[in-house]
Amino acid sequence: MNIDCKTLIREAIIARENAYAPYSDFLVGAALLTAGGKIYRGCNIENAAYTPTNCAERTAFFTAAAAGEREFIALAVVGWKRNGVPEFVFPCGVCRQVMMEFCSPETFTVITAAGEDKYKTTLLRELLPSGFGPANLSG
Ligand code: THU
Repeated sequence: MNIDCKTLIREAIIARENAYAPYSDFLVGAALLTAGGKIYRGCNIENAAYTPTNCAERTAFFTAAAAGEREFIALAVVGWKRNGVPEFVFPCGVCRQVMMEFCSPETFTVITAAGEDKYKTTLLRELLPSGFGPANLSG
């Protein structure tokens, strides 16, 4: 499927508006494209106990999965400090593992953006080489 990076980045920027990040002040938004062409948004949601914090990427995945989605094409992520400027943000290790659960490492594309026209694309395989996934438990 052809990925409309610009639309996905715009959606991630909108998703960031709902970020709940009173502790880090680092606001992140993500937009996840399904095989059916739907886009699910996610933002980071922090917690006073710190560890329950959920990243924007995982929020997008869990929202989509809870809606019954299982096939994904690409995810855009944007993030910057409340009073800062956009910077390139790459998914954390835990989010990469969640991607590994649902996505093909060979084709799933992560778009990290510091602006609508300023972005990098990376395959899941590059972000999580030799990843452990559902295929390892089948058969
Ligand atoms: N964060 C994300 O939501 N996604 C990333 O890719 C990197 C980090 C969040 C977690 C936490 O709320 C804040 O950014 C600072 O780490």
